[in-house]
Amino acid sequence: MIDIAEIKLSDAEIAAAVAVLKSGALRQGRQCEAFEAEFAEKVGAKHAIASANGTAALHLAYMAFLEPGDEVLVPSFTFFATASTVALSGGIPVICDVDPETFLLDLDDATRRISPRTRVIAPVHLFGNACDADRVSAFARKHNLLTVWDAAQAHGATFKGCDVGSFGDVVAYSFYPSKNMFVGEGGMTCTDNGDLAEKMRFLRTHGQTNKYYHTMLGLNYRMTDVEAAIGREQLKRLDDMLAVRRRNADLLNETVGKIRGLRPQRVTEGCSHAWHQYCVLVDPDEFGCDRDALGAYLRECGVATGVHYPRGLHQQPILETLYGRQDMPNTEYLAQRILALPVHHGLSVQDVETVARSVQKAQDTTRLSSAAS
Ligand SMILES: Cc1ncc(COP(=O)(O)O)c(C=O)c1O
Repeated sequence: MIDIAEIKLSDAEIAAAVAVLKSGALRQGRQCEAFEAEFAEKVGAKHAIASANGTAALHLAYMAFLEPGDEVLVPSFTFFATASTVALSGGIPVICDVDPETFLLDLDDATRRISPRTRVIAPVHLFGNACDADRVSAFARKHNLLTVWDAAQAHGATFKGCDVGSFGDVVAYSFYPSKNMFVGEGGMTCTDNGDLAEKMRFLRTHGQTNKYYHTMLGLNYRMTDVEAAIGREQLKRLDDMLAVRRRNADLLNETVGKIRGLRPQRVTEGCSHAWHQYCVLVDPDEFGCDRDALGAYLRECGVATGVHYPRGLHQQPILETLYGRQDMPNTEYLAQRILALPVHHGLSVQDVETVARSVQKAQDTTRLSSAAS
């Protein structure tokens, strides 16, 4: 089976984890500190705060500065945590539609949703496609907003040559298995703001500013040194893993991208995509069958696929209950048609060719059977 993600640790990563396990120093300690410093340097941020997962990475930031009732502009086509962390911090996620081609936050729609309570814009570099940072920054400046970038899927993506981790005010990453970097469970929040970094460090340990002395309401969001040791090792091969993802995406663009009825995500101009996912939109009329039928056919051919996401945030029951029913036509269009094909760093050229051939076969088979009936 050609899987949708490759979640194998290297021998060096396993050895690093074992060394920590043998040392008995499991909790957040020297490995975490070193991982934070090395990650910050790699992405071009002044500070990096390691945490338990990507959700914690976002939540720490919002806990640090959000006031009750602050509104945060979030895209509708993303993972739940982009919005839930806002609500859990007392803010209100204001859900905006996305661009149907790049799948990223639509700033025109966001403009319509600005209010006197808007405090933050929180774009997501979805699937590794970097947002246009120039446009987002101009928007944030114009409306006097902070920016919280969700880079959970975008390790290594760049815009105009700058790593997405260097954008500020806050950039949050996830190291969940299947992500471009994976340590088990883990997250990282990057910022250039020293005061904010310090506050997030306290919040990560129950708002404790001195031993058993709590000045804020925080949580236990610490990363262990086992995960940090894996992350430190993996950082060394991030560029190599990205190079394979990019080669695979190029091959898919040349093959799958040219098949009638399939439309890959449009890469933001000026962006070097990190290809966490390679997603295509399946037009059932043009392609010959719909997204689900294509996914089922590919499974029979030994090719796994994924659906990210089958519904928008505005269609999540709890968010609909809290904030009311809304229509997001572009998101709904994408949610019904999107299919992720394997693109990860574990695939050989032959694997990618098999994926492309299988997609073409799906179309040929559907065409033949509809011609026969
Ligand atoms: C866009 C986005 N934001 C946030 C998260 C949360 O990360 P984690 O699963 O590590 O908590 C994810 C993870 O799937 C994600 O894809």
